[in-house]
Amino acid sequence: MRLRRLRRTDALRRAVRETRLDPAQFLWPLFVRSGTGLRSPIGSMPGVFQTSVDELLKDAQQAVNARIGGILLFGIPDTKDATGSSAWDPHGPVAEAVRAVKQAFPQLLVVTDVCMCEYTDHGHCGVLTPEGDVDNDATLDLLAQEAVAHARAGADIIAPSDMMDHRIGYLRAALDAHGFQHIPIMSYAAKYASAFYGPFREAAESTPAFGDRRSYQMDPSNAREALREVRQDVQEGADILMVKPAGAYLDIIAAVKQDTGMPLAAYQVSGEYSMIKAAADRGWIDGERAMMESLVAIARAGADLIITYFAIEASAVLARR
Ligand code: PBG
Repeated sequence: MRLRRLRRTDALRRAVRETRLDPAQFLWPLFVRSGTGLRSPIGSMPGVFQTSVDELLKDAQQAVNARIGGILLFGIPDTKDATGSSAWDPHGPVAEAVRAVKQAFPQLLVVTDVCMCEYTDHGHCGVLTPEGDVDNDATLDLLAQEAVAHARAGADIIAPSDMMDHRIGYLRAALDAHGFQHIPIMSYAAKYASAFYGPFREAAESTPAFGDRRSYQMDPSNAREALREVRQDVQEGADILMVKPAGAYLDIIAAVKQDTGMPLAAYQVSGEYSMIKAAADRGWIDGERAMMESLVAIARAGADLIITYFAIEASAVLARR
């Protein structure tokens, strides 16, 4: 046996490739705020912007043209308060964006991130107890109101990223009670307390005012616990599971795929994106190759869907191949 025989030419390598990427598996995260004509660059994420709804429609058009799987919306509200009440505002940026995008591009898949951290003045993913802890059960009702508001606006999938216990069952019941039995839930099921979210917090203006998220997001050291998280979410009615971040958690992606057999998404987060961009910008790595390698690795580990800020760029590379 000579394994090099099948590596000799590009045609041979292409023919025996085990993992193939497809733009249809990419979800592109976008940040929307109120206003018009707004497209502000995010310093720590070259090529990523906060936009108003009119500008977002241009990105949605790009998503349609590139034939990617869909977009994932995050909102930056005008006002924040202790309970994050603008999260379920029917005229908040996410609801307005969903309506506008679905009207312009009914066939484009629109997923909404459901969480409180962009909407609370303290930046935590739920409401606080008088002692300053995140109050799990009091937060569930607020998440439910947010999820129903997104579904009413026309979201195709609801994606809760808060990591409160029992939120999947609670949101499933709330969606069902409001006539949204047909709307799937993509659960950020195994979401780790990760340093790789750094640039996102600038993008979403959601840095916690005090403390960190380690009392609700998972400890990076734990793998068995990820399976307990995902099994619980499956039991409570999750339709798609997610592992986040992706690149440093390929073992978790593989284990979840093997254990559950569920449709599985992985989120290549802001820090993963920005590291590649920054190193490529300095000429230290080949940015395009590193981008494609990072994505194929996530797919090879078992992810069906990849949430990535590279969605459009990577689709352009695939279109040339
Ligand atoms: C909100 C949320 C975060 C991300 C997605 N949803 C940030 C966090 O938990 O602090 C991170 C995404 C990224 O880094 O690209 N809870």
